[in-house]
Amino acid sequence: SPAEVFQMAHEAVDFIRTKIPAEFHRPRVAIVCGSGLGGIANTVRDDEKHAINYSDIPYFPKTTVQGHAGQLLFAYMGDAKVPVVLLLGRAHFYEGHSMELVTFATRVCKVLGVETMIVTNAAGGLNPDYSVGDIVVLSDHLNLAGLVGFHPLRGPNADDFGVRFPPLSDAYDLELRQKAYQVWDRIRPTHSHRRLHEGVYAFVCGPSYETRAECRLLRGLGADTVGMSTVPEIIVARHSGIRILALSLVTNSAVLEPVARGNDTKLHGLTRAEMVAKLSEGMANHEEVLEAGRQAAGDMQSLVQQIVSDL
Ligand code: 6GU
Repeated sequence: SPAEVFQMAHEAVDFIRTKIPAEFHRPRVAIVCGSGLGGIANTVRDDEKHAINYSDIPYFPKTTVQGHAGQLLFAYMGDAKVPVVLLLGRAHFYEGHSMELVTFATRVCKVLGVETMIVTNAAGGLNPDYSVGDIVVLSDHLNLAGLVGFHPLRGPNADDFGVRFPPLSDAYDLELRQKAYQVWDRIRPTHSHRRLHEGVYAFVCGPSYETRAECRLLRGLGADTVGMSTVPEIIVARHSGIRILALSLVTNSAVLEPVARGNDTKLHGLTRAEMVAKLSEGMANHEEVLEAGRQAAGDMQSLVQQIVSDL
């Protein structure tokens, strides 16, 4: 119930605060680090950081995906020493958690006093103009799971956090999006081909990657990227008035062209080897997602670090 989730979030915060010095009790910024993007943890000042395992925090979900550490990290970021909390790993809906559990850490951030949340993720690129390794500043989303009833705010409203019918037309803070572009222009590595885009993120449940037909559907609906996270957290954050900046790292290109239609005579002209090669072309897999993350992680880290320093 709403009263319970408020109580539970306060219990979690009370526990967290017993584990860290008072100067870290009210982080201004929360940074959610997606698949392979935990390297942001290396950009904080080493001498002043405090980690807490998710498994020790009351009510926190157990996270299971490779490449996710499962820790809160309290630290200072940048020369301005902005107090931040990094969320190293997140709970996904596809793991079987309820929407309430997927967004519990976001509620905890609100109770901690967080004003701004920077959410990162690994996503598939649907926009044919995107390349692997590009970074997308989200300007909007398609909450596909939410539209059919899997919504983190479903049920009695948690009035302690926000209103019954929160608007989401301003969910992706314009100032923060502009800041991301300004910072990128300043720090962009001179020889890098990596580009920054603005785009729409489609949230799907997963865990399977999309079929070719599903990719065409999502593209037709106006999506530029597709992924299995972020949107539930953003909705719960916006409900309670937290400002949002969301960044997707394009880790692979979703394939839009069909290999062949059932009645396509070209299908019969292919040898078995040609068929196998064609089918595996551009197919999404978790290894590829983690590898693109490793390569682009440095740029993504600098971007986040500089944005936070300028807040
Ligand atoms: Cl292609 N799809 C989804 N749903 N999530 C992804 C992805 C694709 N690539 C990385 N994450």
